[in-house]
Amino acid sequence: MSKLTLLESEERARILRERLNAYGHAYYVLDAPMVSDQEYDKLYHELVAIETEYPELIIQESPTQRVGGQILAGFEKVAHDVPMLSLGNAFNKEDLIAFDERIQKLTDKPFNYVCELKIDGLAVSLKYEAGRFVRGATRGDGTVGEEITQNLRTVKAIPLSLREPITFEVRGECYMPKDAFAKLNEDRDEKGQEIFANPRNAAAGSLRQLDSKVTAERHLSVFLYGAANFEALAVNSQSELLNKISELGLRTNPLRLESDAIEEVWAFIEDIQERRHTLPYEIDGVVIKVNDFETQEEIGYTVRAPRWAIAYKFPAEEKETILRDIEWTVGRTGVV
Ligand code: IVH
Repeated sequence: MSKLTLLESEERARILRERLNAYGHAYYVLDAPMVSDQEYDKLYHELVAIETEYPELIIQESPTQRVGGQILAGFEKVAHDVPMLSLGNAFNKEDLIAFDERIQKLTDKPFNYVCELKIDGLAVSLKYEAGRFVRGATRGDGTVGEEITQNLRTVKAIPLSLREPITFEVRGECYMPKDAFAKLNEDRDEKGQEIFANPRNAAAGSLRQLDSKVTAERHLSVFLYGAANFEALAVNSQSELLNKISELGLRTNPLRLESDAIEEVWAFIEDIQERRHTLPYEIDGVVIKVNDFETQEEIGYTVRAPRWAIAYKFPAEEKETILRDIEWTVGRTGVV
C-alpha cells in the first residue's frame, strides 16, 4: 500500500476505530461475532501501523490503547459519590415470601420485580464523562474503594467510549469466565504457581495487579446492572435502566425476569438454579429488585442495604474430591 498522508491517515484511523469498536462490541458485549478473528486482526494491525507512523493520531479511546500506562506503585483510594450498598439475603422460599410481604406493607402502589442473576465477581464502578471512560474503581467498603482504571481499561467488554456523549457512573460485576479460569489455573499449575481457589478469587487477583499487562492476559468480563448520578439517562425503572445502558453499548445480562407475582419469581429462581452449571460464568444466586425507581425510594434503605431488593443465595455447592496427600509441617514451637 502506498503511504498515506497525515490527513488520509486520520480519516482511515477514524474508520478503522469505528469498525473495530463495532466488531468488539458484537464479540465482547453481545457474544455475537460479526467477523472472523483474522479480519479483526488485519484491521487492528492496520490501525497500529497508522498510529506508529503518526503517533499524534493516537487517542485514549482507540482500541489499541487498552493496555498501557505505567506499572503502578499502588492504588489510589477513591470516595464513591453515592455509596455502593450491599444486599440483604434470602436462603429459602419462606425468606422470599417474607420479603414480598414486607414490600407490600411499605407501598400502596402496584409494583413489579426485576430478577437478575447474582454474578459471582467483584463490584466495580465505571465513570463516563461525555461518553468517555474516565475512571474505574472497586467497591471497597462501599464508601471508599480503589482506583483501578488502568486495569479495567483492559477488560474488552468495557467500552472506552459510549454511543452517546453521556456523563454518569455505571456499576456492575467484573468476573472471570469459567473457561478463562480453567485455562489460567492449568497454566499456573504447569509453571508450578499457586492456583486460584475459584473464579472470584482469580478475578480479584487479576484486578489487583499493578501491571495492567497482567490483567489484560486474564480475560476478564463484566455485566453492568446499576448506576449512580444517572439523571442524564432519563429512566424511571430498573428495566428501563438495563435497556438504556445496553443501548449505550454496555454489557447487561440477558437472563432476567420481570414479574409482579412472587410465585413466578420463585419459579425463575428454581429454573436458574437448575441451569447454573450450564452458564459460562459463576453465579451465587438471584437478585430481586423492585422495578420502579419512585417506589424504590418510597420503600427506602437500611444503613447498609436497600429494603427494595434482596439476594436469594443458592445453597453452597457440595462437590466430591479425592484427597491425594497430606503434608505435615512442624512449627517453631513444635506444633504440627
Ligand atoms: S445490586 C443497591 N445486582 O452482590 C444494590 N448486585 O450482595 C446493590 N451482585 O455488592 C447491588 N450481581 O457485588 C446487584 N445483578 C446484581 C448483582 C449484584 C452480583 C453483587 C454486588 C453486590 C453484592 C451484594
